[in-house]
Order: sequence, then C-alpha cells, then structure tokens
Amino acid sequence: MEIYRELAGLRAALAAARASGREVALVPTMGALHAGHIALVEAARRPGTTLVASIFVNPRQFGAGEDLSRYPRKETSDIAMLSEAGCDLLWLPPVEQMYPDGFATNVSVGGVSEGLDGAARPGHFDGVATVVAKLFNQVRPTRAYFGEKDFQQLAVVRRMVADLDFDVEITGVPTQREDDGLALSSRNVYLSPEERQRAVALPRALGIAARAIRGGTDPAKALDDATAALTAAGFEVDYVALVDAETLSPEPAAGRRRQLLAAARLGNTRLIDNLAVDAG
Ligand code: PAJ
Repeated sequence: MEIYRELAGLRAALAAARASGREVALVPTMGALHAGHIALVEAARRPGTTLVASIFVNPRQFGAGEDLSRYPRKETSDIAMLSEAGCDLLWLPPVEQMYPDGFATNVSVGGVSEGLDGAARPGHFDGVATVVAKLFNQVRPTRAYFGEKDFQQLAVVRRMVADLDFDVEITGVPTQREDDGLALSSRNVYLSPEERQRAVALPRALGIAARAIRGGTDPAKALDDATAALTAAGFEVDYVALVDAETLSPEPAAGRRRQLLAAARLGNTRLIDNLAVDAG
C-alpha cells in the first residue's frame, strides 16, 4: 500500500492508475479503524479498481467542547489493517494540506442535515460536507462507501452529491456490530468496562421499538418506552426518533420506509445508532 501525505503525489498516482484503465474507489475515515471500517473497504474492493482509503480527523466537524483533542489516533495499526484488507493507496493529509491559511469555503447541505444530530451538533454536517467534497475533488473516485451506522451523514452525502453533480456513486454499507449488538465505533474505547456493559441498552431499545412499531404499537409510545429504557440504563438521551428513511422527515408518510435513530450519552461518551423499521 502506498501512503501519500501531499496532494500532488496522490494526484500523480491516481492519474497513472486512471491512465492504465483502472477505476478509483474511496473509503473516507477518521482512523482508529475497526471492523466497521474494514467492511467498507471490503465492499469497495473489486478487480480493476484502485482502492483509496483516507484518514483525516477533520477539525471542522467537531464542535467546541467535543472530543477533537482526545479522538483516538492509531496510525500504525490503521496502516496495517488497511494494507491487510487490500487497500492500494492511503491518503493521510496533514491538517495544513486540507485547511491552509486563508481557507474560507463552507459546504452546507440543507434539509436532511437540519434535525437530529444536525440540531444536537450545530455545524457538524457542514464540516462533514466540506471535507467530503474536498476528498471527492482530491481523489475523484467513481465510487465511494459510507456506513449506515452514521445514517444521517449518509443522507447528507447523498444529497450533496445529487445537488452538486459529483460524478460518484455512493454506497451505504450495513452497520457492523459486536456480538451483543453494540455498533462498532471508534468512540467505544471511551467507555469504561461498566459503561460498555450498559451500552448494549442502545441497540436493544431500538430493536424493541422497531418490533413494537411493526406490530402496530403507536410510534409515540414506542419512542417514549425506548427513551425510558435508555434513561433507566444510565443514558442521557439526546433523541430517539422515527423518520422517513430517505428524507429523514420526522413524519414518514404511509408506505414510506421508516428508520429509528437515536443518540444518547453515557458518561462522557456520545453514542449513536439506528435501525430500519420496514424491510428494504
Ligand atoms: P469515521 O467515524 O471514521 O467513519 C468512517 C466511515 O465508517 C463512515 O462512513 C462510517 O459510517 C463508517 N462506519 C463507522 N462505524 C461503522 C460500523 N459499525 N459499521 C459500518 N460502518 C461504520 O464518518 C466519519 O469517519 C467522518 O465523518 C468522515 C465521513 C470520514 C468525514 O470526516
């Protein structure tokens, strides 16, 4: 696997790959990789494809008081995992490459980015959209892969690609989970052993609510019960919501696919998760 920390080198390598008829696919990450990230790499890997992963802890998507300074960084083991998974190129830009002095542009997606995590984390999705737009222009992939774990982020990226005519096909990859159901996340390392045990309440509450809603329980009651279960497990709940799986509208019309989304804090760790209510 070749590693680039400078844009000119990356572009030259990708130009050579394209000139030899290869397709370029991208998996953007912030590192501290786990099996969830590797599932994206595996989904993206195909013969004839130059597979690019990026690792960049993007300061613009962290709010004041969030975990930017303590976000886990594991460059050595990340490199080993990506290389093992069959990645061809790793793009590892330093922050000055991405945001040099004078940087003044912001990509802001309306609609899908406004509720839920957009409301709880002002500016977060602007930061995500801005960095993903930059990564798309730097790498110019024809395919890019994002996890359903960050369900709203996936919707924001799809909206941006459609609105700004990025020539890239976006694929969402199902959430990878621990054996007990907790979604894999780089932030799970923040949990104490005791919190880690209690964290399973999050996927459980979503599973129970999804089954109840499918079985005809009033969604408002199912959401209240989920909130109560999370609170009883020691979470501070930011939201538990039922939304249209495509538009993320809080009032899904009849016949539309619905998705349950939740964000809740356990101690200093903020966890998110989501689950489909209706079959795809
Ligand atoms: P990061 O949190 O590192 O996640 C990188 C990608 O891995 C995202 O698309 C995320 O949805 C996916 N992912 C994380 N955990 C997953 C899991 N358990 N199952 C499946 N996919 C999972 O998301 C970001 O970084 C950043 O916002 C980024 C898109 C890189 C922009 O900075």
